[in-house]
Amino acid sequence: MAEAFGDYEELAAGVLPADVRDFVAGGSGSETTLRLNRSALDSVTLTPRVLAEVAEASLRCGLVGGSAAMPVVVAPMAYQRLLHPEGELLLARAAAAAGIPYVISTLSSYPLEKIAGTGPSWFQLYWLRDRAMVESLVDRAGAAGCGALMVTVDVPVMGRRLRDVRNSFSLPPDVVAANLVDAVSEAHVGVPGLSAVAAHTASAFEPAVSWRDLEWLKARTELPLLVKGILDPRDAIRAVEIGADGIVVSNHGGRQLDGAVASVNALPSVVDAVGKECSVLLDSGIRSGTDVLRALALGASGVLVGRPLLWALAVDACDEALALLRKELVDAMLLAGCANVADAARLTTGRA
Ligand SMILES: Cc1cc2nc3c(=O)[nH]c(=O)nc-3n(C[C@H](O)[C@H](O)[C@H](O)COP(=O)(O)O)c2cc1C
Repeated sequence: MAEAFGDYEELAAGVLPADVRDFVAGGSGSETTLRLNRSALDSVTLTPRVLAEVAEASLRCGLVGGSAAMPVVVAPMAYQRLLHPEGELLLARAAAAAGIPYVISTLSSYPLEKIAGTGPSWFQLYWLRDRAMVESLVDRAGAAGCGALMVTVDVPVMGRRLRDVRNSFSLPPDVVAANLVDAVSEAHVGVPGLSAVAAHTASAFEPAVSWRDLEWLKARTELPLLVKGILDPRDAIRAVEIGADGIVVSNHGGRQLDGAVASVNALPSVVDAVGKECSVLLDSGIRSGTDVLRALALGASGVLVGRPLLWALAVDACDEALALLRKELVDAMLLAGCANVADAARLTTGRA
């Protein structure tokens, strides 16, 4: 039993093979950005308001394409059957029960239609070399009832994740890229001194994806479009110009460019640039209700949460984990004198 949302990593450590733990926990290069995400969030201070007559906090909020029971979204994460045989289905069901969107990864290990059937879902798109496959995924996501499309733009190539390289990490035969025609791929072929998952990405992903491709995508789909992996306000402005409905300020949890700015440090300039025109979400390093409040106070409409939910999945505790995160956010809001997310956005922030 966990006492805090941040406890699941330790609990999962007792049940997962070392290479799967490393695949989830790891960042790229020397993991500088992975560490910066945490130290930057820890350094954000909040100035509580007092005597605000707040006995209850309402977490309900508007998110792209609808409303949610709290300003939290389950981040797209590949191959969740690595953590639990029911993988994506279990986590998506917990998200639905908690009243929050679940983002289905292009690289999900159950077919997107099966996951979308469990509750409100968005679909995350990686730009593949095979344009027909991209078109088919977009069409399938729409037909399956996904509420939004989230295109990830920070993976022209995969960051060099040294833990996976050192472990010669590859996927077990029962964990496949269920949405792709080639569900079994290089990702399953262990090669000493190589990450098989990185090898698969190199052959499947289109490194030269461009703003023109995003314009094409926007014209092709009726679904709200979010662009995930933006850190520079100039890119945020460009995304809004092509019609993006939301931006995810993200460095992919420290898994892409090592040395990239901590997401939370990039957030204020992106909010200044486009916050009036579209939703701005934050991810990378969110580990507690206080972190969610920090993001809201800095102008985010909500957050995406990644690894902690995979750790919870590994110990079959997704419902409990989301309830704990909710409780932590309620507690933080009451302590800060916030009755709702609009109050949270008016808090004064500083740096420790
Ligand atoms: C194991 C794992 C798999 C991931 N797979 C994807 C993916 O398929 N698509 C994507 O856009 N982001 C992917 N991400 C990045 C997450 O969506 C998110 O940006 C990141 O995990 C947030 O940081 P956090 O884990 O510190 O919360 C993955 C992250 C992890 C840890």
